[in-house]
Amino acid sequence: MKIRGSAAEYLGNKNEQKQGFKLKYVFVWVKVKRLSLFFSCRAKMPSMAQTPNPSANGNLSFNHNNNNNNKPNFFARSRKILEQRKSLPIASVERRLIEEVRKHDILIIVGETGSGKTTQIPQFLFNAGFCRGGKTVGITQPRRVAAVTVAKRVAEECGVELGQKVGYSIRFEDVTSSSTSIKYMTDGLLLREALLDPYLSRYSVIVVDEAHERTVHTDVLLGLLKKVHNVRSKYIRDHTSVGHKRTSDGAILEKENADPCISVLKQCEGRKLPPLKLIIMSASLDARVFSEYFGGARAVHIQGRQFPVDIFYTVNPQTDYLDSAIITIFQIHLEEAPGDILVFLTGQEEIESVEKQIQDNLRQLPEDSRKMSTAPIFSSLPSEQQMRVFAPAPAGFRKVILATNIAETSVTIPGVKYVIDPGVVKARCYDPIKGMESLIVVPTSKAQALQRSGRAGRDGRGKCFRLYPESEFEKLEDSTKPEIKRCNLSNVILQLKALGVDDIFGFDFIEKPSRAAIKRSVEELILLGALTDDCKLSDPVGHQMARLPLDPIYSKALILASQFNCLEEMLIAVAMLSVESIFYEPREKKNEARTAKNCFASPEGDHLTLINVYRASNDLLEKRKSEVGKDKHEKILRKWCKENFISSRSLRHARDIHSQIQQHVEQMGLCISSCGDDTLQFRRCLAAAFFLNAALKQPNKTYRALASGEVVHIHPTSVLFHTKADCIIFNEFVKTSKEYIRNVTIIDGFWLTELAPHYYARQE
Ligand code: CDP
Ligand code: MG
Repeated sequence: MKIRGSAAEYLGNKNEQKQGFKLKYVFVWVKVKRLSLFFSCRAKMPSMAQTPNPSANGNLSFNHNNNNNNKPNFFARSRKILEQRKSLPIASVERRLIEEVRKHDILIIVGETGSGKTTQIPQFLFNAGFCRGGKTVGITQPRRVAAVTVAKRVAEECGVELGQKVGYSIRFEDVTSSSTSIKYMTDGLLLREALLDPYLSRYSVIVVDEAHERTVHTDVLLGLLKKVHNVRSKYIRDHTSVGHKRTSDGAILEKENADPCISVLKQCEGRKLPPLKLIIMSASLDARVFSEYFGGARAVHIQGRQFPVDIFYTVNPQTDYLDSAIITIFQIHLEEAPGDILVFLTGQEEIESVEKQIQDNLRQLPEDSRKMSTAPIFSSLPSEQQMRVFAPAPAGFRKVILATNIAETSVTIPGVKYVIDPGVVKARCYDPIKGMESLIVVPTSKAQALQRSGRAGRDGRGKCFRLYPESEFEKLEDSTKPEIKRCNLSNVILQLKALGVDDIFGFDFIEKPSRAAIKRSVEELILLGALTDDCKLSDPVGHQMARLPLDPIYSKALILASQFNCLEEMLIAVAMLSVESIFYEPREKKNEARTAKNCFASPEGDHLTLINVYRASNDLLEKRKSEVGKDKHEKILRKWCKENFISSRSLRHARDIHSQIQQHVEQMGLCISSCGDDTLQFRRCLAAAFFLNAALKQPNKTYRALASGEVVHIHPTSVLFHTKADCIIFNEFVKTSKEYIRNVTIIDGFWLTELAPHYYARQE
């Protein structure tokens, strides 16, 4: 292997030169051909290095109940964890933080990423007695992976079994019990809980984590929590006006025996209504927006530990950022000092393809340069594989973490010294006029780019390679637009309606979505039959739809399917549509992958094709059921998936989702039956459910989406890519080089007027 180095073009300005910026050189990597990337060092992040406070108290108040046979290892690990906890910036401010929480019902905590907010604050609250009387501290996360991995970590830190004192709950997975005191969950899940328990009575404290992400669920949750907080505070105020004494965490002191109000309050606590403490946590330095929203709430700042990070830009724009990322990974691997690499990619598909390419490239390197391991992390990664990303690489190996923007602030992975940032992210985008929502790859904001580069400076000085020229950075938006301003709101509106919020326009959003978007989504819900013409939740359909943890359009499909006698098929279809691409197509094995896919392909479309895959996996497991053990079955399934170019991760996820939604529909009393070979019945049901996503063939072989009028193309991955069918329905709209539709099935155009006359009759 021969590596050449040459001087890079220096782009720094005079100011920065004065600050001592070094000239960097670039590497021309000759073995794994293609172009090498030219980076120029541009800037560095300021050092905010802090010496950890050695007197910090790593307070552990849980009992050890781990049954660990490997005791020496177990104790060594416990000691290490304790040391890690003590050295976190937050450890030295535990007492002051708790004082602030006691003093202020609503507290905003701003803290740099990795300072220990998510893992430590709930434990501080537990130690301070906020879980007394069977109450729970709830912590919401925008992302499922964060909820799961953090809960696992905290359970380990506390030495308890996951699901007991510390647990998590995400859509389709509940790992909690009646003894759970610290509960991590997604923000969407807490919204669902509010449907059953409007005052969130089991919680003494709710911590809204990663509020700066401003996901649509976080924004709605903030509005809801503000309301719940006011109601609970008013209740307590009204009932304590006669002067009860309360303990610092809000419990009523029992001593004032004879007072009748005590019994009211006791009842109130019996009805689980103690005051609610709210903590809003954010990694963004700007706490103003949250403070103002909560009536001037107190905000505190926790300083993190950040080492300087050298930032490199490419000299020229890159045409293929995946290729550029792979080249950069190898440049770092071959030329830079030890340290793990964190690469930001946009989704599972990209991550899996880059992972594969890294493995292939490694095989071309000399034996002694192959010491590199990969660790993916993205939201639908099965939970037992998620923790792998935190495990150190084998001795002498370099770990390459391939992550979505989940690693920006939600999870902190130790050991990262190099960050590769292609400067893009997959984001939702909604056009309220056309009613079209799509997932598109867009440039990150400056704030995101800064967060990403910061990840390289957690353990020591680091380097961040931005795969775009510096001039591009200047063009980025300062911060990301809140998701509520760029998504379809029908899901949110349905939930708010189910929570009793009648006036959606008047709801106290932290930032109001546009009137047009609200109007469009309300109309959509009326068309789906979830809302009546006067915008009330319809009975029973609207209520049923709100109960299902799915997009309203999928919930409607399940409800309709029970009437069309094809709920068995629709359950499979909805589960398979809920995961990221089932099929994968490696670049170098395209033909083999297509042949494999053809074995499952239905001439009628992708929905039936997905059902065929699912059923084939069922048949396989049925055939081999005599081979005992869950692990054995997993292995059989993995092998079969590999042979058939199916993503075993996605299929497993779909199987889990299937069993969860099946439970929901069974509880709702829907009739699960199969249409057997009568696939026409199933397609009619698809037409009845997804009539808003119908498209008609145009003379030039493109399609026109009927609801939006948009010209669309069937995606090349669809089994109907070469179809000439006149009328189709689709489930996904993706905008890349063209406007594509995915998950497509052939229907008869007349079915639309027959099955959705309220919409298609109106169109004439
Ligand atoms: O929330 P914040 O970004 O302030 O920090 P955190 O998520 O509480 O992380 C604190 C520390 O715990 C970091 O050093 C992480 O690397 C570590 N951690 C870990 O080792 N394993 C996890 N599953 C989660 C956190
Ligand atoms: Mg955090």
